[in-house]
Amino acid sequence: MKRVAAAVGGSVLVPSLEENRLKAWAETLIRLHENGIQVFAVVGGGGEARRYIEACRGLSLDEASSDEIGIMVTRINAALLIGALKDYAYPRAAESYLQAKEFAVSGKIVVMGGVTPGQTTDAVSAVLAEEVGASMMLDLTAVDGIYSADPKKDPSAVKYATMTPAELINLIMKEKMNAGSNMIIDLVAAKVTERSGIPLIVMDGRDPKLLEEALLDGKFNGTVVGERKDLFPL
Ligand code: UTP
Repeated sequence: MKRVAAAVGGSVLVPSLEENRLKAWAETLIRLHENGIQVFAVVGGGGEARRYIEACRGLSLDEASSDEIGIMVTRINAALLIGALKDYAYPRAAESYLQAKEFAVSGKIVVMGGVTPGQTTDAVSAVLAEEVGASMMLDLTAVDGIYSADPKKDPSAVKYATMTPAELINLIMKEKMNAGSNMIIDLVAAKVTERSGIPLIVMDGRDPKLLEEALLDGKFNGTVVGERKDLFPL
């Protein structure tokens, strides 16, 4: 089976508990699985993590301890996705890369959340891609690619079709990374992408069908960070 690591942003999977896309995402992951693609899904914390982190701020908790709470929420979201995937998923969320590799022996979809403070699930997904020999690392997020500036704040922002890891690092270097931060991709993930040479794909995760179209039909409209141009279909 071909392997891909996918950071499914909490902001697209569980923007809030009431407005979640767990069912739709489970259907897509199952369809990919049935087409010979084993997905390692790394689930983010989303709106609920940010609410908990706000509560931490109200208690003047330090950033690393707030990260720990964020990680717990990512793991709850991972458990929810496992629930939605039923028998297609390994029944437990991996808590380490080694565990993810062990669970992958089952041939099932492997799901995990965060691992350690000071980073986001983008970094988890980038490291996991290295460890499991994934052919790409996908970042499914609430924008349709990487822009020169935040398109919500700056109407002159332009989207990159491709860029090098060095260009990405340059773009995000100045951003602040507090617990619950909203940066397009975290610096650890960008650095790991640079060293691994595994292509990083940033694309819209609000409609999971777009991922099926990219991987199965070759229809792609996001940003590729890396050298290769012939990534889709997988
Ligand atoms: P994420 O920032 O990865 O989730 O984790 P998200 O909310 O899904 O982000 P989007 O939707 O992709 O933008 C939530 C929080 O959990 C902590 C951080 O505080 C992070 O902001 N976290 C997560 C860690 O400290 N370490 C991890 O390995 C993962």
